[in-house]
Amino acid sequence: MKRNILITGGAGFIGSHVVRLFVNKYPDYHIVNLDKLTYAGNLANLKDIEDKPNYTFVKADIADLDEMRRVVREFKIDGIIHLAAESHVDRSIKDPFTFARTNVMGTLALLQAAKEYWETQPEKYGGKRFYHISTDEVYGALEMTHPTGIPAPFTTKASSGKNHEAYGEEFFVETTKYNPHSPYSASKASSDHFVRAYHDTYGMPTIVTNCSNNYGPYQFPEKLIPLFINNIRQRKPLPVYGKGENVRDWLFVEDHARAIDLIFHKGKISETYNIGGFNEWKNIDIIKVIIKTVDRLLGNPEGASLGLITYVTDRLGHDMRYAIDSRKLQRELGWEPSLQFEEGIERTVRWYLQNSEWMENITSGEYEKYYDEMYGK
Ligand code: NAD
Ligand code: DAU
Repeated sequence: MKRNILITGGAGFIGSHVVRLFVNKYPDYHIVNLDKLTYAGNLANLKDIEDKPNYTFVKADIADLDEMRRVVREFKIDGIIHLAAESHVDRSIKDPFTFARTNVMGTLALLQAAKEYWETQPEKYGGKRFYHISTDEVYGALEMTHPTGIPAPFTTKASSGKNHEAYGEEFFVETTKYNPHSPYSASKASSDHFVRAYHDTYGMPTIVTNCSNNYGPYQFPEKLIPLFINNIRQRKPLPVYGKGENVRDWLFVEDHARAIDLIFHKGKISETYNIGGFNEWKNIDIIKVIIKTVDRLLGNPEGASLGLITYVTDRLGHDMRYAIDSRKLQRELGWEPSLQFEEGIERTVRWYLQNSEWMENITSGEYEKYYDEMYGK
């Protein structure tokens, strides 16, 4: 079936994996990647598919309502997968307004543009989809009731490689009350509410998913894993916030992209699905896995880079623990992670080490200023 799909934020980390998957898997779809190319957007992430006949790139700002109206009409868009956002918590602490503008006003502009266009169509909302990609951070933070870990109630392929642990009894489910703490998560929560409001008020066919921390190739090196891989490579300190005890639930980015594909096609309108792999790690433990993997692949003696660990002042309002319960997605649509965490980390570290040019291109210029302000020279 022919379709015209708009993917926003497709030059970013997760978006580029989603664009690649759709362009390659659906030659009959026309994939329009719309991205403002902020510091986080990089067309080099899509070099391998940029010449495909079913792919078009549009440079635009989602907060520009007239431009969104134009793009949706011009390309006769019938499905939207919305990933464009300001995505880094530390940046939101320094500059909350940019997050409100893009994440809240940008999402609203996109919703409005789609609504206006779809309402003029003979079949109206028939066959249309507005799929909004959100985060587990909107649910707030979970308690760390078991700091030394307890056996997790469920195991997935993602978590099958280690002695599987959870750090509390509670998990985020789709009905968990929203309780965002950072300006980033508050802006994402607000955008989620607008998406649901457009369904409840106008009947717009929306879906929202909330995913846990992603890792993998093409992630901007402000985020923990690529930052630390790059710093080890460059023999720079590894800035661990607080005591390194905070817990995150990690999912390989291609597994997230597969979930997005499945939900876009098979998900139920107006539903919310949580996406995650029951794969909780304390920051300090994951940091040790990264160090071990990088040292091994660089041929350094085991433990050579442990001395780079540097405990620094904690992030303001640092959420203690995130842990996603994704059993609804498994039960209703049959999705499961395909990759064991240790395999995913190995693939990720190898990719960053083999793509040092990609890293060097994005860590020159503006990035150095950001890095110095964040971590000191
Ligand atoms: P990213 O920062 O790597 O990419 C964001 C992309 O959006 C960039 O290409 C950027 O240029 C573009 N963008 C920013 N502002 C824009 C604007 N005003 N108009 C158009 N484009 C704009 O982010 P990511 O990590 O790939 O996250 C993508 C989405 O997934 C976000 O909505 C994020 O909240 C969500 N999410 C991320 C994670 C994660 O672990 N990274 C987990 C769950 C959900
Ligand atoms: O949970 C999903 C979210 O995951 C997404 O919505 C966000 O877009 C994404 O950025 C990510 O948010 P986090 O804040 O969890 O990711 P980050 O990589 O910034 O940090 C992971 C953990 O590591 C967190 O507890 C903070 C800590 N950290 C991070 C950095 C950058 C450090 O200790 N040192 C660092 O230098």
